[in-house]
Amino acid sequence: MATKTSDTKDNSTNSTTTSTGAATGTATTTTSAKKTTSVDNATVKEDDMKSSPLHKFFVSALKDIYYAENAIIDALETMQNAATTEELKEAFEDHQLQTRKHVSRLEKVFKLIDETPEKKECEAIKGIIKEGEEIIKSTEDGSMTRDAALIIAAQKVEHYEIASYGGLAQLAITMGHDKAADLLERTLQEEEDTDYELTEIAETYINFDAEQED
Ligand SMILES: [Fe+2]
Ligand SMILES: [Fe+2]
Repeated sequence: MATKTSDTKDNSTNSTTTSTGAATGTATTTTSAKKTTSVDNATVKEDDMKSSPLHKFFVSALKDIYYAENAIIDALETMQNAATTEELKEAFEDHQLQTRKHVSRLEKVFKLIDETPEKKECEAIKGIIKEGEEIIKSTEDGSMTRDAALIIAAQKVEHYEIASYGGLAQLAITMGHDKAADLLERTLQEEEDTDYELTEIAETYINFDAEQED
């Protein structure tokens, strides 16, 4: 087995210097030397993966968003019950179903990188969800003002998720976790679509009527 530390560094800086330790012994030209190095790096990456600071951060951030997604399932239920406009209620319901998928996708991501799914309490999402609950308390039941405010609260959740999944997908690509990256990008796309859809609902059905309320 090749030395772990040096090969990890070589992976980001060059593609030839570690080929001397390649296991295949087929590196007779520059091109094949590069290929051998890449195989070697892949092997080392697997062995080295769990001890790297970036991997540890990646797993910690996955646990954060795993906690967040589970909390969002409940929050969407609350927002659906508090909303009045049918289109908004449906959007919250649809996204709750998607959010359940996001949880199971994250479980697949944990499995793909040989880690156990765990929730890490996330103060940020707790705060954003709390803000949504305060909006419900401070607005009138059945009002468009509440629906307009609920949309903004929900979009804050989506933007937290978009930032998380966008960053995690890029890290997954960088670390060579292609299948994990694909799953994270699929969720990212659904978060972005939801954000867009909420804006459409606000502009089409809610904001104008909210502006008429006194
Ligand atoms: Fe989500
Ligand atoms: Fe979401």
